[in-house]
Amino acid sequence: MRLTIVGTGYVGLVTGTCFAEMGNHVTCVDIDEQKIENLKNGIIPIYEPGLEAMVQRNVANNTLYFDTQLKDCLHDTDMAFIAVGTPMGEDGSADLQYVIGVASEIGKHMTSPLIIVDKSTVPVGTADKVKATISHELKQRGEEIEFHVVSNPEFLKEGDAIGDFMKPDRVVVGTEDKETAEKMRRLYAPFFRSSMDRMLVMDVRSAEMTKYVANAMLATKISFMNEVANICELVGADVNKVRIGIGSDSRIGYSFIYPGSGYGGSCFPKDVKALKKTAEQAGYHAQLLDAVEEVNDRQKYVIANKVIDHFGENLSGKTFAVWGLSFKPGTDDMREAPSIYIIKKLTSLGAKIQAYDPKAVHEAQTFYLKDVDGVTYSDTRYAALKNADAMLLLTEWKEFRSPDFLEMKNSLKAPIIFDGRNQFDSDRLQALGFTYYQIGKKR
Ligand code: UGA
Repeated sequence: MRLTIVGTGYVGLVTGTCFAEMGNHVTCVDIDEQKIENLKNGIIPIYEPGLEAMVQRNVANNTLYFDTQLKDCLHDTDMAFIAVGTPMGEDGSADLQYVIGVASEIGKHMTSPLIIVDKSTVPVGTADKVKATISHELKQRGEEIEFHVVSNPEFLKEGDAIGDFMKPDRVVVGTEDKETAEKMRRLYAPFFRSSMDRMLVMDVRSAEMTKYVANAMLATKISFMNEVANICELVGADVNKVRIGIGSDSRIGYSFIYPGSGYGGSCFPKDVKALKKTAEQAGYHAQLLDAVEEVNDRQKYVIANKVIDHFGENLSGKTFAVWGLSFKPGTDDMREAPSIYIIKKLTSLGAKIQAYDPKAVHEAQTFYLKDVDGVTYSDTRYAALKNADAMLLLTEWKEFRSPDFLEMKNSLKAPIIFDGRNQFDSDRLQALGFTYYQIGKKR
């Protein structure tokens, strides 16, 4: 098929590249000329394992193209995917100006029947708005061209985006038009070759809702476990054991019940807020989602508070090594990363930070911690420990899992670890002479 993908952010670029990999003819469009020029040369704007090589391969195979002019692509395409950003508006709702802008451009320039696919995370009712915008533009032109708007939300995770796209748990398609559903099925069929067909066709509004509910459910699981962790600590239980104890119930399951320093990233915080707003606009107060957010906001400070309990409120003269800055491993993304909150809190009390992250240092230096005094960056995890008063583990990169504890002990001023991701075996660390703080277990 011939596909146009509008927006070369995370979702758009992965979607376009994976469709190209399956042999479709794909053009990815973005208004950012520099970004498009780089992509034509195989340089991608984000870090995502395997993506750059896949872009380069498909550009070389003439299956993947990049362009800045949407109108030039529309005369020769079967489907146009809208994958532009939906940032959070001031009131917490999703800002749809870019989505509607693209819809209007499509309506102005489409020349033949077209399927328009909403891939961006958009609130319930957006497909209707996209449809109305395109109809309006066509009317202005005095044209009658057949088109269908489909909701096809994306469920990929950063760090494993290609795996998620190529082997999806499910593909949700919202359309009431049978022929359109059939075309979507043909497009996705190659992704189910080795497994059963997992395409779920439903009405548009249910598809739009599914995306938010999936993310809100996952965020709820995390906040629930963080709440449990805090209670465990107070009553002398170990959340690591409780997690296994409950996860072994197949109705509960093991995934997404790891306590930590709270969820971050570009999706959960934004989508929980947007779902709350959608409910509010429909006249409903989503109390549980309020609590999910409150627990998460508080959880970001748990590790900082443990540091303060240990060292006192005045941290001047103290230096802390931080392992991990990104909101999770496998990405350089620092949006809403707990590390930002923890580092800002500790430096505001006079502490110095020596940080190490395998991928996110550039992001930290140029944006997220740019204006924070007292932060320096180290080239290796061990260099960050040199003469530090303690180490804080904030992102569970694999390379942090089994470090050389003796080297750590020799580098740190005192063998103290604050683990915001419960990565280590507390008995072993205690036997090695470490003071080990973690989430959800009294020391
Ligand atoms: C999330 C969803 O997992 C994807 O399915 C969805 O498509 C995506 O949002 C999106 O809407 O675009 P992502 O934000 O990349 O993906 O990251 P996750 O792997 O889900 O992690 C989110 C946060 O939850 C991280 O901060 C992570 O550390 C935290 N987390 C996750 C926990 O604290 N505990 C857990 O058990 C799992």
